[in-house]
Parts: sequence; structure tokens; C-alpha cells
Amino acid sequence: MPKLLHLIVACAENRVIGRDRKLPWRIPEDLKYFHDATAGHTVVLGRICYETWPRVALDGRQPVVITQNTALARDGVRVAATLAAALAIAETLPGEIMICGGERIYAETLALAAATARPLRLHLTLVHAEVAGDTFMPEWRHLAWRELTRRESADENYRYTFFELER
Ligand SMILES: NC(=O)c1ccc[n+]([C@@H]2O[C@H](COP(=O)([O-])OP(=O)(O)OC[C@H]3O[C@@H](n4cnc5c(N)ncnc54)[C@H](OP(=O)(O)O)[C@@H]3O)[C@@H](O)[C@H]2O)c1
Repeated sequence: MPKLLHLIVACAENRVIGRDRKLPWRIPEDLKYFHDATAGHTVVLGRICYETWPRVALDGRQPVVITQNTALARDGVRVAATLAAALAIAETLPGEIMICGGERIYAETLALAAATARPLRLHLTLVHAEVAGDTFMPEWRHLAWRELTRRESADENYRYTFFELER
């Protein structure tokens, strides 16, 4: 029985998740949520996310980087050429499998879950704003989700809601 997949993302109402290789906002509460939720687990992520997250291998995280560049592998950092290969590695590691983006990896994960009926939990921080950006979360709202938890919050710049959804 394969492990439950967890997809974790912070996304604006217009589905923007990134701009110029960075997050398009600074929301300290969400950053803390993201770091706490991924600590101690396997994190599956694309090469740009890896390059822009220097502390990825701290706090017990086990990164599996999706890239064609096998030279990126080093102590504690595994590489895989495809999402399927990354998931095969992640299955052998302790802890949960947290899919951390970017865009294509989220899209392939949603497609995989739909095609195989593999259970998927979405840890979604929905930022209640239309934000300019160049990287997007694929549309998820048309899929049938069961809402597990919901918590609303805000800082001086944004209102946002933490959801846990499952299908
Ligand atoms: N708001 C959020 O929660 C969130 C989460 C994640 C990312 N982001 C934002 O999104 C942006 C980065 O994401 P991104 O989509 O541009 O890049 P990315 O997925 O981190 O990296 C892209 C690279 O990863 C590899 N790759 C990705 N998907 C692949 C696949 N399915 N199969 C094979 N290789 C694959 C390729 O590497 P090679 O070229 O090395 O082969 C590709 O060039 C940043 O702005 C970041 O801040 C936001």
C-alpha cells in the first residue's frame, strides 16, 4: 500500500504561488507553518525550489530533488529524474511524503492522484488576494475534496486561510 501523499502549498486566489523564483509575499505565520509541517519528513521538490531553500536538509528533512542534473546529489540530498522516480525513493524513507512544488510537480501530483485514486492530502494556505506572479498552482477547486480542517488568520498585509483537504 503506497503512503498517503501530502501536497503543501500557499496559493493566492488567482493561483499564483511564485514570482522571480521567490514567494510573492512574506507571511511569517505561513513560513513557520510550512517549516513545521515539513520537518522530519521527506520533501519532494523541483530543482529551483531546492536551490532557493538553503535550509531544506535541516530539521530532519530528507530532500528528494527532481532534476536532470544528477550532480546535485550530495550527502542527505537525493535526486530523481521524474516524479515517479522521486516517489519510489520517498517510499523507502521514513516519515511522510510532502510534495513541495513547483508548478509542474504540483500538476503531476494532482494528475497522478486523479488517475490512480491514490489518496492525497492538500495542505493549502489560501491567500485572499490577487497577486502578480509567474508560477501557478494548477486548478484544484473542481476536484472533490473532503475538508478536514480550516483556520482563518491574517497579518498586516494579507488575510489567509489554512485548509487541510483530502481526496
Ligand atoms: N507558494 C508556495 O507554496 C510555493 C511552493 C513551491 C514553489 N513556489 C514558487 O515557485 C517557484 C519555483 O517553482 P518552479 O515551478 O518555477 O520550479 P521547480 O519545480 O522548483 O524547478 C523546476 C525544475 O525542476 C525540475 N523539474 C520540475 N518538475 C519536473 C518534472 N515533473 N519532471 C522532471 N523535472 C522536473 C527541472 O529541473 P532541471 O532543469 O534541473 O532538470 C525544472 O527545470 C518559485 O517562485 C517559488 O517561490 C511557491
